[in-house]
Amino acid sequence: MTKLSIAVLVASAACAALAFAVLDADAQAPPAQPAAAVLAEMQDRTTLRPLTAFTTIADRNARSVALFEEAGKVIAHPRCANCHPVSSPAQGDDRKVHMPAVQRGVLGEHKEGKGAVGLPCASCHTAKNVWVGGTNIVTIPGAPKWALAPASQAWQGKSLGDICRQIKDPARNGGKTLAQIHEHMAADVLVAWAWNPGAGRTAAPGTQAQFGEIIKAWIDSGAACPTGGPVVPSHEPIAAAD
Ligand code: HEC
Ligand code: HEC
Repeated sequence: MTKLSIAVLVASAACAALAFAVLDADAQAPPAQPAAAVLAEMQDRTTLRPLTAFTTIADRNARSVALFEEAGKVIAHPRCANCHPVSSPAQGDDRKVHMPAVQRGVLGEHKEGKGAVGLPCASCHTAKNVWVGGTNIVTIPGAPKWALAPASQAWQGKSLGDICRQIKDPARNGGKTLAQIHEHMAADVLVAWAWNPGAGRTAAPGTQAQFGEIIKAWIDSGAACPTGGPVVPSHEPIAAAD
């Protein structure tokens, strides 16, 4: 049996860690192309690769970039990006305009992100997902402190590289250190909602624990950013890039 077919068999037994062990064994004579099963796993947007998939990248900077690109599967996912728009939220896996049209809100008790005074987010979104079982709306999503991310933290319409630099910049990320960014990604309740979004919408790839590990490894390897990368789709016209 060839090494390739072994890798395919192992992966089809849903044992990714072993598949990477097979690659490790090949490390002496690197193949020109990763095995088909490994390529498929790199392109799979529904799972996250284990950290062992990155330890084989010897160059620290390249490893850091690869880790952020993996985290990008989550960051670009509609569960996160729908709440990180330029101005108004998007809905659903197809990132459509929010119905009804709602405003970010800037004033008074409804401070930025919690909706306009007449129509705060909390008039519909509560602290948990509420199943309504309709044809169009299966669940009204909910989590504690439901709100839009501030405009300086918008991800829609930006490349993964630009989002990376923005996330690292305390002037735009809400004054957070990298350690606080990790804590937020690994434990924040709105971030956690993305893996428990209620019936009718897809959860973010992998698990939040895996995502937290990837962000930690990215920071530990120097928090390097991709140059450009794929642009996160947007449901609204995009303001000039920063
Ligand atoms: C009048 C009720 C109402 C108001 C007010 C409202 N929403 Fe919604 N929102 C909904 C409903 C219902 C859905 C689910 C729609 C669906 O599943 O197709 C939804 C979905 C969403 C989603 C999509 C989640 C996902 O990834 O699919 C986001 C994000 C969102 N709302 C944010 C907000 C924010 C932020 C505010 C305040 C600025 C707000 N909403 C105000 C009713 C409302
Ligand atoms: C319901 C809306 C909502 C969802 C869903 C959401 N966020 Fe956010 N996000 C926010 C708000 C509000 C803030 C700002 C308040 C804060 O820092 O706690 C924020 C801030 C952040 C920050 C702070 C730094 C920065 O520059 O953005 C990060 C990182 C972040 N979110 C990551 C994520 C990730 C990753 C996901 C998906 C797994 C996600 N968020 C899903 C609303 C949301």
